[in-house]
Amino acid sequence: MKRKIIAILLGSLLLTSCTNDSESDLIEVTNEETITYTNYVKNVIDTNCIVCHGTTPSNGAPMSLTTYAFVKDAVLNRGLLSRISREQGAQGMMPNGGTRLPQTTIDAIIKWQTDGLLE
Ligand code: HEC
Repeated sequence: MKRKIIAILLGSLLLTSCTNDSESDLIEVTNEETITYTNYVKNVIDTNCIVCHGTTPSNGAPMSLTTYAFVKDAVLNRGLLSRISREQGAQGMMPNGGTRLPQTTIDAIIKWQTDGLLE
């Protein structure tokens, strides 16, 4: 009886790890696509940043992030990638005073730069 229970527990553990495997496979497939401002980055910025970095920046934010040109400039000249890559709660981490973006999102934005900061 005990053996059976252990076997069932092991079985469900295996099943769980299979599920996780296929999830990371999915993320890798996404990572093989070219990241562009329009297909990925704009949505992330609109959801997490423009509450402060709006057309008229607010809450002390120094610049707008509402267009491709602004976001590209922030990557090239204002350390955007460094800001979103900092540890949760680290000084200067963006979103300011908020929750660090998921690592997969950060990686995708880094890939946007590798892919050539395409619009
Ligand atoms: C709650 C308001 C708020 C949110 C949300 C926010 N920021 Fe900021 N951001 C600020 C403030 C205030 C500053 C200026 C202080 C500083 O440099 O740390 C700033 C500065 C920056 C800078 C540096 C600008 C420079 O010239 O040095 C970058 C890059 C940046 N933010 C990117 C982002 C990104 C990307 C997001 C979304 C992931 C984001 N911010 C979300 C308020 C915010």
